[in-house]
Amino acid sequence: MRTEDSVPESGLSPVRVALVGCGRHASICIHPSLPYLPQIQVVAVCDLDQSRARATAERLGGAAVYTKTARMLAAEQPEAVIAIGPPAMQNPVGQECLAHGCHLLIDKPPGLCPADARQLAEAADAAGLIGQVGHNQRHSPAMRTARRIAASAEFGEPTTVFAKYCGEIPTEPFWGLEPLVRGLLYYQAVHPVDTSRSILGEIDTVTAYQVQSGSVPGGGPIVVMLEFVNGTLAVLDQNTATPYFQVRTTITGSAGTSVDVVDLDRVTYLQRPEDTGHRRVEPAQPEFGMFYEVMPAQTWQVPRQYPAEKAWGYVDQLAAFAAAVRGGEPAKPTLWDGYQNLLALEAISRSLTTGRPVPIDEIRTELG
Ligand SMILES: NC(=O)c1ccc[n+]([C@@H]2O[C@H](COP(=O)([O-])OP(=O)(O)OC[C@H]3O[C@@H](n4cnc5c(N)ncnc54)[C@H](O)[C@@H]3O)[C@@H](O)[C@H]2O)c1
Repeated sequence: MRTEDSVPESGLSPVRVALVGCGRHASICIHPSLPYLPQIQVVAVCDLDQSRARATAERLGGAAVYTKTARMLAAEQPEAVIAIGPPAMQNPVGQECLAHGCHLLIDKPPGLCPADARQLAEAADAAGLIGQVGHNQRHSPAMRTARRIAASAEFGEPTTVFAKYCGEIPTEPFWGLEPLVRGLLYYQAVHPVDTSRSILGEIDTVTAYQVQSGSVPGGGPIVVMLEFVNGTLAVLDQNTATPYFQVRTTITGSAGTSVDVVDLDRVTYLQRPEDTGHRRVEPAQPEFGMFYEVMPAQTWQVPRQYPAEKAWGYVDQLAAFAAAVRGGEPAKPTLWDGYQNLLALEAISRSLTTGRPVPIDEIRTELG
């Protein structure tokens, strides 16, 4: 099985980048990814908390330290900004950076409502700047491998996606979002929504359900049906009670195929044996016929030597951004993807409240 485990370097001069926001996610996932990327040069670091900005600058081998984005932009003139703060910061800081002529990589979600995300996308377009939303799953070697398989002729047309992503509903308004479930949606469900869209295209209608029985802290698991414009379907399992942080995506294809990505760590590709030239493996008990037949599978596992930042897609997400700034492939997901994702989250929230299917167009018209 051919894999998609690297993004070619541009061979051009490094992109002069400023970092805004040095909290948990930035320091655990993004900053440790930067040493793998000679195509990115960090020239400045900014956080309201100066000690965090200073610690980050030291960790990365030295960069100018700021507590105010405006001052940093004026003094350092970076080409691009990576913004990783609470969404209430992301949107205004993102607008500020675009207005200053900086390309923008902004972590998800790119705002706390679709209209904010749309305005960012419009601002980037108007200024002719690259705008990318941080969705690491899209860039993980495992997910890229699965997407390439799903796009191949032998896979047939992708027909369904099952996407599991775990997380608890906050017990008090998260990022100020109400009802409570919107905190879960904007923080976590945005990932499987983006993943499903990256495979099946644009969403038409959303129907969401929540388990009401049992006593799961913060509320029961949520299952969402996404109906896509092209007639395909996705089921999101936003499970609130899981033994560990599980991420799983299964894509099925019209040629009797499926590809399964477990925890961004293993990819399993199944085809009908007759389509591959492989022979079925004899079942242990042939008298039980097809129920016990062992099917050949192609599998790929993240190599042991990969650091977590690479396996989870953070390194390649940053590499894709740098390449796009240097004129390569457009960086995905774009700010427009970020907007579409938030429309879907609002549709999920409304479907949970009203108990009915919610067309994306209804949300776009009202909240667009
Ligand atoms: N892609 C992923 O896997 C993933 C995982 C976790 C979090 N995230 C995203 O990362 C972002 C940050 O989450 P976190 O958990 O690291 O938050 P955090 O609260 O730990 O860190 C946010 C940081 O931003 C700083 N900040 C706030 N306003 C600022 C401003 N105006 N200027 C400069 N700095 C400012 C804060 O001082 C803090 O250090 C969120 O958007 C979240 O959705 C992404």
